[in-house]
Amino acid sequence: MKKKIGFIAAMTLVALALLSTRFYMVDVPIWHFLGGGKGPDPATLHLRGEFVESNLGAAEGPAGSLTVRMIAQQFVFVPQCIVVPAGVPIRFRITSADAVHKLSFLGTNYGLKAVPGVVTEATFTFAKPGEFKIPCQEFCGAGHYAMRGQLEVVPRDQFASLLPGERRNCEPR
Ligand code: CUA
Repeated sequence: MKKKIGFIAAMTLVALALLSTRFYMVDVPIWHFLGGGKGPDPATLHLRGEFVESNLGAAEGPAGSLTVRMIAQQFVFVPQCIVVPAGVPIRFRITSADAVHKLSFLGTNYGLKAVPGVVTEATFTFAKPGEFKIPCQEFCGAGHYAMRGQLEVVPRDQFASLLPGERRNCEPR
């Protein structure tokens, strides 16, 4: 009897040890289950729905509202750089194509989790023009430490003159 309990305890420890090192692989089905499968399907994000490539980055909605859509995936943010206007509330909508990631805007206390199968939404305002690095702050696998995007905040009138494609990259202009 004692032997049996010992065996079960040992197996539990092994399972926990596996789970603690591979948790980012377990996340996907669990989050999908919790999301009830109602969110976007991580496998077809790029192909259809809200997160197709042409719909990513900053887009103007009704009544001058501004929405930024992004995908986090091992080990990049898509788009890699986004341009937004200063002093305007910006609604971020983000999802993940694989593991759980966390977007943080260096130098601010703004952060946003990217979860496969779920759209996370938050509204942030960046008061002044500037550049913000976006490091991933949730361990998401081997390339986690190199996973970073960029946010460029430009004056409002400059933003208004940018074409949709120019709002998705930070090439010097
Ligand atoms: Cu993505 Cu860490």
